[in-house]
Amino acid sequence: MSEPLAIPAATADVRAQFAADVRYYLSLVPRQLPSKYLYDPLGSALFEAITRLPWYPLQRAEARLLEAHARAIFGAAGPVDTLVELGPGSGEKLLTLMMAGGRASVPFDVRLIDISPVALSRATQTLQAHSPASVTRYEGTYEAGLERFAAERDRAGRALVMFLGSNLGNFDPPGAEAFLRSVNAAIGCSSVLLLGTDLVKPARDLLLAYDDPLGVTAAFNRNLLVRINRDLQADFEVAAFAHRVVWNRDLLRIEMHLVSRRSQRVRIRGAQFELALQQGESIWTESSYKYQPEDVHTVLARAGFRVLSQWIDETDLFALTLAQPEG
Ligand code: SAH
Ligand code: AVI
Repeated sequence: MSEPLAIPAATADVRAQFAADVRYYLSLVPRQLPSKYLYDPLGSALFEAITRLPWYPLQRAEARLLEAHARAIFGAAGPVDTLVELGPGSGEKLLTLMMAGGRASVPFDVRLIDISPVALSRATQTLQAHSPASVTRYEGTYEAGLERFAAERDRAGRALVMFLGSNLGNFDPPGAEAFLRSVNAAIGCSSVLLLGTDLVKPARDLLLAYDDPLGVTAAFNRNLLVRINRDLQADFEVAAFAHRVVWNRDLLRIEMHLVSRRSQRVRIRGAQFELALQQGESIWTESSYKYQPEDVHTVLARAGFRVLSQWIDETDLFALTLAQPEG
């Protein structure tokens, strides 16, 4: 089994970018924070806990689809040399695909792109415990990882690129289209993309998935303030913020907010910023867009992809779509 190649993060740069983003997004009205910052070590662990909650069925729906259709996915993808996953989290889905597809013993070249070093370590361990895969980790944003991958593409051959878990849902529609266009350019015409998207479902189910009775998602959301306190020497009083989830049925998105329970001022020394919040004012921390199956076709077509196949879990309403860049 080969040693994973770790590409170390420039911690000072990451911190400077975090400070700049916190200053910029908290100055906007409504106040916002980019959801990619939810995944510090505790955030990654809390996300994994969310995936095990009975109220977050998208995880199991996608795993069921991967298990049931892995052979068909590999068949439609054709011969591949490299597996790439954007935001693998624990890496369990990639392993499921490899095992159920009868490919666990293939010494694939696997490239993992994730902003969370904890997720990268977890995913690497998951894969290397059960397969002879050689794992390369790109620690950073999807965009930065794709750039690295594109620069090395000649050596990667044909790739099966995975963007699972409805990660695309965290982009707004123009952002999703632009992002898929950049995936298209980075992976090249001979590669294929396997995209997992959560589908529109009853509001009650969606609200429970993002506001679970155990409060794990609330902790995942509030932990962003814990992270800012630690990494940017801020003095957020975490308990003074309520977790609020909204289903925006016009825009087909779940919104996650942190609502200030009272008027307060927060000092964020590491970002040279002071935040004044009114009682009831919110910080918008995440959007999760939900799709109709035909919307997935539309956004892929707009981004220059041809859909090869789509599989839908009718129980929990989730879609897996395999697509290829138009030549
Ligand atoms: N695909 C996995 C994990 C989903 S959680 C699953 O379905 O279970 C989202 C993952 O993407 C996390 O591991 C997180 O660290 C990573 N992530 C979120 N935003 C990111 C970004 N902008 N760039 C790179 N990685 C990101
Ligand atoms: C990673 N992402 C697609 C998850 C989602 O459903 O939007 C993150 C998450 N947020 C709250 N619960 C899970």
